[in-house]
Amino acid sequence: MTDDFDVLRQPLTLGALELPQRLVMAPLTRNRADEDGTANALMAEYYGQRAASAGLIVSEATWVSQQGKPYPRTPGIATDAHRDGWRLVTDAVHGKGGRIVAQLWHGGRVGHPDTSGEPLVSASDVAPGELTIFTPNEAAATIPAPRPLALDELPGVVRDFADAATRAIDAGFDGVEIHGANGYLLQQFLSDNTNHRDDAYGGSPENRARFVGELTTAVVEAVGADRVGIRLSPLAPAHEMAESDGGDTYRALAETLRPLGLAYLHLLAQPEDALTAELRTAFGAPLLLNTGFAKHTEREEAISFVADGLADAPVVGRAFIANPDLYERWSQNAPQNETISKLFYASGPEGYTDYPTLADGEAETALGTA
Ligand SMILES: Cc1cc2nc3c(=O)[nH]c(=O)nc-3n(C[C@H](O)[C@H](O)[C@H](O)COP(=O)(O)O)c2cc1C
Repeated sequence: MTDDFDVLRQPLTLGALELPQRLVMAPLTRNRADEDGTANALMAEYYGQRAASAGLIVSEATWVSQQGKPYPRTPGIATDAHRDGWRLVTDAVHGKGGRIVAQLWHGGRVGHPDTSGEPLVSASDVAPGELTIFTPNEAAATIPAPRPLALDELPGVVRDFADAATRAIDAGFDGVEIHGANGYLLQQFLSDNTNHRDDAYGGSPENRARFVGELTTAVVEAVGADRVGIRLSPLAPAHEMAESDGGDTYRALAETLRPLGLAYLHLLAQPEDALTAELRTAFGAPLLLNTGFAKHTEREEAISFVADGLADAPVVGRAFIANPDLYERWSQNAPQNETISKLFYASGPEGYTDYPTLADGEAETALGTA
């Protein structure tokens, strides 16, 4: 651990993306989109507030097809209306001098037919155990078992991701991040507890990695490798995942993805794990690092990722929710606002666009003493 904030002041190149500094805002689902998944002016305000403080913003997870929509009021990038909604956001971010990539998502077995209007699909018919989910009708609905995607349906899902990537660039995003983490569809193919297929997409680590490899290749063909990153959470238990192959599927995936020359690899992992360092080398791309939900990412830890040579940039979630000017606060080692977690997935501006900046605080103080 060190307290050398200067390491985060250094610029960083991620493919076609030029970051003026290294504080990356994590993808954060906030459920403020319109019912049909269209991004809106409130979202544009939220992202615009944070744009000048992040070297790069990764958007909240954004579904590529109606089939892949896991939760109510999450945004999509599946239609022209979605594209136009996101344009409000990308214009706001660019207007503040920022950069933003779209996180492309399919929930797979995590979701509910009442939310998407479609049956759940996955690699195999394995339900996520005791997990319940928020739907338009229920706070804690039981999740039914998914239907395994047929072999001849896989190219359609791949195409949905490639089309969504093209639409994201049309919407003004600077790139896309493929969401391969946190137990959603892509990880359901990677993991042996959710992938029991006996075709070319299951069985061996190479086979389990095949779908994500083909999908990423298609996205790269659509928008160019220098605008594509991927987020992975190897061996992490989110959404009832239980990978038991010690990381071999990720090693196989690295072999497929390395020649593509992706803009970056984004890992949810522990910096001290040997697998983290091994995958960084195997992918051969700049590494963005976040350690996951167990504890908030603190300033000193984020600095240490870069200062200790563990990653190229830290990715920070909850602290960015509560502090739109997080970079300035960390730069000055100033106090931070409390994160109000009960408003993470609420509606409206409360707990979303109403967190004050340091400058707001000073203005209040000035008024108070006038
Ligand atoms: C409210 C909330 C929403 C999240 N949404 C997403 C998401 O859409 N996509 C994703 O990959 N991770 C998501 N995450 C995980 C974060 O990106 C990050 O990994 C996690 O919050 C740990 O980082 P932190 O300690 O800096 O908050 C979410 C986390 C929170 C708290």
